[in-house]
Formats: sequence, structure tokens, C-alpha cells
Amino acid sequence: MIKINCFILGFTLIFLSCKSNNDKKDESELYVNNILHQRYEKLLDYPLDSLGFPRSFSRNKNTLKKVTSKDWTSGFFPGNLWQIYHLTGNKKYRKLAEKWTAFVEKEKFNGGTHDMGFKLLSSYGNGLKSVKNKKKYQDVIVKGAQTLSTRFDENIGSIRSWDFNIDIWQFPVIIDNMMNLELLFEATKITGDSTYHKIAVKHANTTLKNHFRDDGSTWHVVDYDTITKKVRTKFTHQGIADNSAWARGQAWAVHGYTMAYRYTKDVKYLNRAKRTAHFFINHKDLPEDGIAYWDFNDPKIPHASRDVSASVIIASALVELYGYTSQEEYLNYSKKVINSIKNISNTYILPQDENIPFILDHNYGDWSKRAEMDEPIVYGDYYFLQTLLRLKKLQS
Ligand code: GLY
Repeated sequence: MIKINCFILGFTLIFLSCKSNNDKKDESELYVNNILHQRYEKLLDYPLDSLGFPRSFSRNKNTLKKVTSKDWTSGFFPGNLWQIYHLTGNKKYRKLAEKWTAFVEKEKFNGGTHDMGFKLLSSYGNGLKSVKNKKKYQDVIVKGAQTLSTRFDENIGSIRSWDFNIDIWQFPVIIDNMMNLELLFEATKITGDSTYHKIAVKHANTTLKNHFRDDGSTWHVVDYDTITKKVRTKFTHQGIADNSAWARGQAWAVHGYTMAYRYTKDVKYLNRAKRTAHFFINHKDLPEDGIAYWDFNDPKIPHASRDVSASVIIASALVELYGYTSQEEYLNYSKKVINSIKNISNTYILPQDENIPFILDHNYGDWSKRAEMDEPIVYGDYYFLQTLLRLKKLQS
């Protein structure tokens, strides 16, 4: 119990490790908290713009990349504001979060993407926890789930991820898509209609069958034949090679299956999450600070870029995952999370003179586009804040 309390307390305060010198600990906690609060305020400074969701910042070009609500990342900026509100209780963040969230609403009709969960849960899903008009937020989530369901192929047993490259792929499904299932599970909880839940379970089962390798890692993309409904090919789109382990993909898998276990209590999902978590956190090429290289198979390791986003996505998942595991596993997972969050807080928070609406640096965006490689990116912040919130919840 002592260990658990130390761990939880430490987490919330970020620097924990249960030092004996309390004064020193207080100083460092205060220091990190101050730095974080100053960074949070940079988000308040960003002007409201229904067509300009901040996505990332290129230091080479000295430009902020802005996107419209159509982009898969649009919900994360409002999501960050909601989460900062939940962490700090400061109503300024909440007010702004509500305004930004409204700009995402029209996405509930956008059937051209599987990223509905990313967009609507980060914005409306987080807002639902504290907004007065819950019905309005629930309606958006349910409409979004209905729209997402139109991408489901019953015979393949999956939701189609992408619509581009139709001359090369037939029915591509990416591991990231596991994250969007939460929207369907939530829609069933709201409406009592099990259709959404069933689609999510089918997708999770099909992905479980076809996406994973014997070493515990996941392929990025599995393409299905639309006539035979069987697997055509397995490959990567964002990793360095088809058979490589793209770090964020591994993290999506762990987060996605941990979440699927939460809604179903199906132990095969829990085992899947643990297996892939094991691959990631015990990998020989995971640096000591716990911040993964963007791809575990980049030949440039140890000089390859890191991906903070992968490490915070998995850290957040591990906080939930160890809640479902034995004491021994729990201690193993918790040590890893403490380590990476501590190091992120030490080394990866942006300096105060960078007047951009982000918190962390050194995320790795998209190798296929050679874009956002080693930059502040909105979803890195989102899963960092989610981890802090999950830890705070544990404490309370
Ligand atoms: N879902 C897209 C990405 O992780 O880059």
C-alpha cells in the first residue's frame, strides 16, 4: 500500500519517486507545476478561429500548422482545453473549450473518415464530463457513431480506415482505428442500442486476428479484399518499413485494447494490451528515459528521432491497464510510467519563450509525408494531459 500511495502521489505531482528529502521534492514539484501552468496559458493566447485548429509547429519554417475540423487532429485542441480545465479547475479554459468544441460539431456528418472517435471524443467526449447541456453533447456523439458505423463491412468484420489510394488498396484497416471504437461503445451506453457496441467488438476481434505478430508487435495496415473479404496484404504507411514496429502504432494498440477491455471485460483484449505493452516497454531499443524512438526498427537508432506522443499514449494506457492487473505487473507498469512522465516533465516541455499553443516538444508526425518530424504536435499534449488526469483520478 505504501508503494502504491507513493506512486500515485508522485505521479500527480509529477516528480515523485518518494524521496526522503521533502524540501527538495516540494521545490521540484512546484517548479514543474509552474512551468506547466505557464505553458497551459499559451493555449489561452491562441485566437479563436473556426477554420484554424492548431496542429503542430515547424521550427524550420517557423510556422504554425493549422487545420480545419476535417483533419483527424481537430478535436485535440479543444480536448486539451477541457483537460486543462479538469486539471486546474480554471473556468477560463472551460469557456474556451466550449467555443472550440462547437467548431468540431459538423464532423458528426463526415462519413469520409474513420477518425470520428479522435475528433468527437477528445472534444465532445471530454466536454460531456462537465458541460451543463449534456443532451446536446450526447446527441453529437451518437450521430457521429451512426456516421462511423456506415464504414463497417459486416463480412470483413471491420470499419474501413482510409479512402485514399483506392488504386492500390481495397479496404485498408489501420491499428489506430482501435481508438475510434470508444465512440461506438459510448453511443451504446448513451442510447442503450447495442448495434454500436457489436460493431466495435467485431472490429476489435478482426483486428486481434490479423494485425498482430508473434513478437507482440502490430502491423500498421491490413488491407482486405472486398470480394473475398480476406486479408490481401499487411504493410506500413507511417513506419520505416513494412515489417517494422512503428512506435505510435504499438501505443494505439495498447490504448485501444485496454479501452476495449474496459467496455467488454473480455480478457482476450486485456491479454492483447499486455502483450503489446510488454513488447514496447521491455524493448531493447527503448531508451532509458522511456521516450521511444519513432520506429523501433529505424536503422539510425540510437540517433533516430524520438516520438513523445507514442510514449504518452502508452503511458496513459498503462495507468488504466495496471488497474486491471496483478500487483506485480502493476509495479512493473507503474515504474515505467513514472519514468517516462518524469523524464517528459524534465526534458520535453517547451521553453517559456516559445509563444505557441503547445506544451511538449519532440513528437514525430508522419514519415510517409516526411512531415512533422520532431515537433510540438497537438496530440502529444493531449495524451500527456490525459495521463496526468488519470493519475489525478487515481489519487482521489
Ligand atoms: N492516426 C494517425 C497517426 O497516428 O499519425
